[in-house]
Amino acid sequence: MTESAGHNLISLSCLDRPALEHLLDRAEQFLGPETTTAHRAMLAGDATALIFCEPSTRTRFSFELAARRLGMDTLVLQEGTSSRLKGETLTDTLHTLAALNCRYFVLRHQENGVMQRLAADLPAGTALLNAGEGTCAHPTQGLLDALTIRLHRPDLQALTVAIVGDLAHSRVARSTAQALFALGVRELRLVAPPALLPRAGEMPGRLVSDFAEGIAGANVVIALRIQRERISEQAKPDPTTYRREYGLDAERLTRLAAADALLLHPGPVNWGVELDTDLANWPGSLIREQVRNGVAVRMAVFAWLAENLHG
Ligand code: CP
Repeated sequence: MTESAGHNLISLSCLDRPALEHLLDRAEQFLGPETTTAHRAMLAGDATALIFCEPSTRTRFSFELAARRLGMDTLVLQEGTSSRLKGETLTDTLHTLAALNCRYFVLRHQENGVMQRLAADLPAGTALLNAGEGTCAHPTQGLLDALTIRLHRPDLQALTVAIVGDLAHSRVARSTAQALFALGVRELRLVAPPALLPRAGEMPGRLVSDFAEGIAGANVVIALRIQRERISEQAKPDPTTYRREYGLDAERLTRLAAADALLLHPGPVNWGVELDTDLANWPGSLIREQVRNGVAVRMAVFAWLAENLHG
């Protein structure tokens, strides 16, 4: 099994609405400070390896907290000080870690397709968890975005959601759009300058390049960072122009979006570009809550994969 249908979590594309709702329900059970110690017996004795070949703060630490709260040991592989520098392949690295009884591999990597490739040769009895793959998928971010919205607006079928920003290079947008579409949101808009829109049909949602039209009446606005590390020098948007034409600030949100609109951002935020600093304490901002919910979501994913691994 190489997809996210039970043994690995590589993308959300294999998860239908009941499976997504099951994971979100499970994550809700893990919310709350009491879970710092309540579930320590659940996966005690197992180990998780955290392999981050690209920078991360939220995903890296929330996966580590999730693993520890379920009682697991955590092994952190620093690419720059590991035998990867001596030519060891990622496949060999996973088999080496499995020989140390590591059962879960949490991997962030810049290459599209790396998860599928590794999943085809995973050590027996182990699971691969995608913590961000190139521009194609970030499934736990999609789940935590959906959970955060659902906690505040349980009636997803009544919502218009606008995802605004660098959709062309965003793995978050792909996974979040997949999750929200499968969960049945009323309308999903993908809002960006023409150069940063995804190709038609690449992800669910209606492509909109007119900013005001894209935000109009939205119940939820999800802003995205420009992924400058994935854009060639010549194609990089000018931050000042981008801010003027597609940046969100309190006045624009108040004027265009629904009166009680929620604001999300997967982070890290480039304040003064996609979001003005006057949104730092916006009453409808769920940006910090997204980070907190990430731990519960990742606990739910570990628990789900453990059930499937252990049969
Ligand atoms: N949202 C997200 O993936 O953040 P990090 O890069 O900090 O993990």
